[in-house]
Amino acid sequence: MLERPPTGFYLTLAGPEGVGKTTQLAQLVQFFESEVCSANIVITKEPGATAVGRELRAILLMTDRTDIDPETEVSLFAADRSAHLREVVVPALMQGKVVISDRSVFDSFAYQGFGSRLGIEAVKAANNLAVGNCWPDLAILFDLPVEIGLARKYRQQEVNRFELKDIAYHQRVQRGFLNLARIDRGRFIIVNADQPPAGVTSEMLAKLRDWRASHKKLFLEGVN
Ligand code: TMP
Repeated sequence: MLERPPTGFYLTLAGPEGVGKTTQLAQLVQFFESEVCSANIVITKEPGATAVGRELRAILLMTDRTDIDPETEVSLFAADRSAHLREVVVPALMQGKVVISDRSVFDSFAYQGFGSRLGIEAVKAANNLAVGNCWPDLAILFDLPVEIGLARKYRQQEVNRFELKDIAYHQRVQRGFLNLARIDRGRFIIVNADQPPAGVTSEMLAKLRDWRASHKKLFLEGVN
């Protein structure tokens, strides 16, 4: 089983489409550089952070690949995750680094578990071998009405296979994320993303500082 190294800090950004994760990532890096550690941050993403992952990402996101059933889809994301954790995340944690990942296993729970209705247990089973006990230490969940996020995505030139799914699917995904956050309170921070970017940043950082104060041991001891 994949073991979580005792060092480092594994943070993930979560949320439905178009919630502004990329914009907030830069602010988070600044926070970690100035308040926690400098030059010890690894920024990564799922799917597609490894050689095999990039090929899986192409299959998973291409819009003409409409014949992927949910069981196959969850398995492909787990395969990407297996390579990502072993090649990128765990080696960085072993060196005491802060890993910030755009998406993680929580997205499989929300998208495949709730969006595609596979359910939590099926997603867990599909991810057992890939994840072992190397779960993110903390997830920042950006919450935004799905219509607003999707409208932002549709304004872009290219949309992916998930962004083309109907609104009911995305509403299930959003409810799924909120459910996960409720079940696993200690591991989630929920940020209201329905406000200007500067407001999102200050809410995110205030909640992160509070979380750090109550999880000092995990946060400070592991990071070099
Ligand atoms: P993005 O990299 O542009 O966020 O696109 C990734 C897409 O893949 C996004 O629509 C969410 C979806 N996704 C899942 O459905 N399950 C997963 O486990 C992950 C990591 C992403």
